[in-house]
Amino acid sequence: MSRAVVREAFGGPEVLQVRHVPEPHAGPGEVRVAVRAAGLNPLDWQIAASARHAAMFGITGPSGFGGDLAGVVDEVGDGVTAFTEGDRVYGGVLAAAVADHVVARVPVPTPNLLRHTPDGVDDATAAALPTPGLTAIAVVDAVGLTPRDTVLIGGAAGGVGVITVQLARLAGAAVVATASPGTFDFLRRLGATPAAYGPGLADRVRSLAPAGITAAIDLHGTETAEAALALGVPPGRISTVAAGHPLPGTRATGAFAAAPEGLGRITDAILAGALTVPVAATYPMDRIRDAVVRQAAGHVHGKIVITP
Ligand SMILES: NC(=O)c1ccc[n+]([C@@H]2O[C@H](COP(=O)([O-])OP(=O)(O)OC[C@H]3O[C@@H](n4cnc5c(N)ncnc54)[C@H](OP(=O)(O)O)[C@@H]3O)[C@@H](O)[C@H]2O)c1
Repeated sequence: MSRAVVREAFGGPEVLQVRHVPEPHAGPGEVRVAVRAAGLNPLDWQIAASARHAAMFGITGPSGFGGDLAGVVDEVGDGVTAFTEGDRVYGGVLAAAVADHVVARVPVPTPNLLRHTPDGVDDATAAALPTPGLTAIAVVDAVGLTPRDTVLIGGAAGGVGVITVQLARLAGAAVVATASPGTFDFLRRLGATPAAYGPGLADRVRSLAPAGITAAIDLHGTETAEAALALGVPPGRISTVAAGHPLPGTRATGAFAAAPEGLGRITDAILAGALTVPVAATYPMDRIRDAVVRQAAGHVHGKIVITP
């Protein structure tokens, strides 16, 4: 037997159950991963909470839970040559990751690629990368940052934001980043000048960056994009993950749009000591409901990681 977080119905954290399930095995074209860590994303509980949201990802009934994982290949199916037993891997397997074992097709459809975890990148960090890392690559590449830029990043302290801020700094841009005041020191340590989100944002940013803002990345609603427009940023230099209602002319994007090789840029930066992925908290699988409650409250700094 093996354990997995499963849900029979759609709903809040209360529908998530840790169950003993028959141990899955790798069939032809598949590998089995012994999961060491799973990175929690808002999408995970959004899918669990809403049949409409889940259907957008092809999930129509009961399912497992979680998407991003890191672990060790412990079974290799016929025909698989890219991985061997004992390989450390990380990647995304939608609605399945919070489990002792996950079976993944190889290759897993883009952008949820299973890939080798570089030596020197630990499992918690690797599990925190697939969705947030690809999303950060997408939003940064959409605006094409250079050392001449001062970029305003909204929602900068979350799982996507912490990587986005550091990629922007690595591109040479100056960063003004929004958060609540209690988060300011956290953002300063990532290399950003913090600004409080909420009404009056454009005025606060104007005084923090008197030479002007040249690009913007909005990771929380549309407030940052609106402030950037008010500050004269061209819409084409504003990227956003506000998929349902992006402002006209701005660049709506997401993990789906990222070059899969982008994760290599992030792991290279980690190995060079130039980028870190803060882990806000680690929860054992048995406490998955507590982890989801904390994530859904919307004030995590960095990532929540689930361990066996
Ligand atoms: N389209 C895609 O492919 C894609 C992929 C990944 C994520 N997303 C979306 O991107 C967003 C960010 O994801 P995430 O994983 O980074 O989320 P997250 O980790 O849950 O973000 C938490 C952060 O949001 C900040 N925050 C809360 N209220 C805010 C506000 N009113 N204005 C600005 N920041 C605020 C918090 O800062 P304080 O604690 O200081 O309040 C906290 O650090 C989510 O909406 C997610 O669904 C989209």
